[in-house]
Amino acid sequence: MATTILVGAQWGDEGKGKIIDVLTESADLVVRTQGGNNAGHTVILKGVKYVLHLVPSGILHQGKVCVVGNGVVVDPISLCEEIDGLEKLGIKVTPQNLALSETAHVVFPYHRELDAQREVLKGRQKIGTTKRGIGPAYGDKAARVGLRLLDLVQPERFAAALKTRIKENNEVLKAFGAKPLSYKKVLADYQAAAERLKPFVTNTVVLLNQALRQKKNILFEGAQGTFLDIDHGTYPYVTSSNTTAGGACTGSGVPPNRMDRVVGVMKAYTTRVGEGPLPTENAEIADMLHAMGREFGATTGRPRRCGWFDAVAVRHAVMVNGIDELAVTNIDGLDTLETLKVCVAYRAAGRQYDYVPSDAALLAQCEPVYVELPGWRQPTSAVKRWKDLPAKTRAYLKALSDLTGAPIGIASVGPGREQTIFVK
Ligand code: GDP
Ligand code: IMO
Ligand code: MG
Repeated sequence: MATTILVGAQWGDEGKGKIIDVLTESADLVVRTQGGNNAGHTVILKGVKYVLHLVPSGILHQGKVCVVGNGVVVDPISLCEEIDGLEKLGIKVTPQNLALSETAHVVFPYHRELDAQREVLKGRQKIGTTKRGIGPAYGDKAARVGLRLLDLVQPERFAAALKTRIKENNEVLKAFGAKPLSYKKVLADYQAAAERLKPFVTNTVVLLNQALRQKKNILFEGAQGTFLDIDHGTYPYVTSSNTTAGGACTGSGVPPNRMDRVVGVMKAYTTRVGEGPLPTENAEIADMLHAMGREFGATTGRPRRCGWFDAVAVRHAVMVNGIDELAVTNIDGLDTLETLKVCVAYRAAGRQYDYVPSDAALLAQCEPVYVELPGWRQPTSAVKRWKDLPAKTRAYLKALSDLTGAPIGIASVGPGREQTIFVK
């Protein structure tokens, strides 16, 4: 495996958690490099459902080292709760299997409150964020007023720095008409979390580069998806980090020339949670999937918007991430359909596009150009080998590969580890 970057090739929730769990088998380390607890990665293991938000999905395998890299924003309270939740399910989380970057930035209650207030102010133009404070936390990082885990675990330095930050942010909150925060309460809560997390905080850049020298296999676990990327996504309807492959380098301190392979995870159809353009959105598919109890957000429980597979978008994702191999999930979600549509181009204002336009307003006007493929109309979730998939399923997947320009390495027909087909 050497080093593998795994990214979401669509709008997030592609089934990255499941594929990471499968690939972790051959990894020594699993590394989160961006985002925060806005992520929700589902892994089903022996019938038990785990939803990981900040802790890398590799934690469910024994003997793997999980790393939260410098590019992640960490809500320490939420992280402590997540660790407690894992321990309750019998997963041991210790400094031996979890390392937190000392330069990862910390998410505070004022970030969450500002996230919520800005959404209210935007009204109909809201982003539909997860309200986890992600945007304001990255905003503080860029403005160079953020606090990092290395500040959090030094009590006196932290107490002084927090005081200034609360003072400034309470002024901003007042301007929004929101309640100011109590410095004392935030300090007490964060000091308790700091004490708990201190043994995990370390220089993960050195740790990862040491692992590289020892020829360890490293899997970089992307969060969100290509079209939620702050630079390459449907701005402003995006998250605040680089969710594309480059983010794995800046968010970990592992240089680009040490990366061997990029795997893009995508659903056999399209989903998006939150606002913003989604050219292939289709109410019928959404109703069908929701009626099956599927496509509800793993972090917020919101119903996901659903649509046909968008080959224009994924082809764009293959380009900006340098995807070597695709993992296609949720193939079984299409089992009952008679005809499947695949978007091969967009049309807007008398023009045809074979790439994703940068302007979200223009993308929102885009009408998809579809090709139709026959559905297979039989269950696939028990299939174990590529050659045992219905011929029409194989033809559909081959079309997705041809249209997006990347080979398919993994086909997933159910949420479980065993429902994974490796494509030779
Ligand atoms: P992530 O954020 O990319 O890790 O994806 P989520 O966990 O938020 O959402 C993906 C959903 O699809 C989860 O409920 C998974 O358990 C589920 N899932 C993943 N792969 C498959 C598959 O091949 N078939 C089915 N039925 N469910 C899948
Ligand atoms: P995983 O890792 C799907 C979306 C939110 C919103 C936008 C901005 O599970 O794929 P934020 O809270 O980040 O400021 O919200 O991004 N979003 C996700 N959508 N999957 C995710 O993560 C997401 N993380 C953020 O719904 O539209
Ligand atoms: Mg998710």
